[in-house]
Amino acid sequence: MAQINPSILSADFARLADEAEAVRGSDWLHVDVMDNHFVPNLTLGVPVVESLARATDIPLDLHLMIEDPDRWAPQYVEAGAGSVTFHVEAAAAPVRLAREIRAKGARASMALKPGTPIEPYEDLLPELDMVLIMTVEPGFGGQAFLDIMLPKIRRTRELIARHDLEVWLQVDGGVSAATIERCAEAGADVFVAGSAVYGAEDPAEAVRNLRELAGKASADAWWACGH
Ligand code: DX5
Ligand code: ZN
Repeated sequence: MAQINPSILSADFARLADEAEAVRGSDWLHVDVMDNHFVPNLTLGVPVVESLARATDIPLDLHLMIEDPDRWAPQYVEAGAGSVTFHVEAAAAPVRLAREIRAKGARASMALKPGTPIEPYEDLLPELDMVLIMTVEPGFGGQAFLDIMLPKIRRTRELIARHDLEVWLQVDGGVSAATIERCAEAGADVFVAGSAVYGAEDPAEAVRNLRELAGKASADAWWACGH
C-alpha cells in the first residue's frame, strides 16, 4: 500500500496546524529539520515539532538534515515524532542511534544523500524500519527529480527483499504526478511530496491522486507481488 507524506517545507509556516488539516487523510506529515550546517538551509527545531504534534492527529515523519543526529534525534522522539530519519553521512554510530530511536518508541529510519551508496549499509537494514533515498540534494523544496537515483531505489528494494525484511522505502525530492510511478515501479512504497501537494489548489486531492498513481504503478511490480 503506497503511503503519501506531504512535506510541510512547502506549507505556510505561520499556519502549520491549518496546513496539516489541509492534507487530512495523509499517512504521515513529513517534517524537514535543517540546521544550516549539514545542509545550507535552516528550518525548525524541537519546540515547533512539540507544538505540531499536539496540533494534529497525523503522525509526524521527521527528516533530520542536521549534524550530530546521535545527540538530537532522541529529542525528536520525545517531542512526539512517530518516525525519525537521520542521515547516515552525519551519524557517528548509526546502529546505536537506530536502536535508541526504537527503544524510545519511534520508527527508526536512515537517509542517503544522492551520492551515498546503499551497499555499505546492507548489514544495518535489520536495525531499521525505513530507508530514505533522496532523489534531490537535500536542502530545498521544489527541485527537479533525479532520475539517476532509480537504480539505487531498485537495488535497495532488492536488498530488503533478499533479507526478507519489512523495511519501508521512502523517496524524497521532486516527487510528483510526473515522477511517482517510476519511483513505485523501482521499489519505493513511501512518497514524500512538498510542492506537488502544497502547490496544488486542493492539497488533499493531490494526496489522493498521488496515492492512486503509486498504487497502480506498484501493483504489478516484481517487488510488490505477494504483498
Ligand atoms: C528537501 C526535503 C524535502 C522537500 C521536498 O531537502 O527533504 O522533504 O520538502 O520538496 P519537493 O517535494 O518540492 O521536492
Ligand atoms: Zn525531507
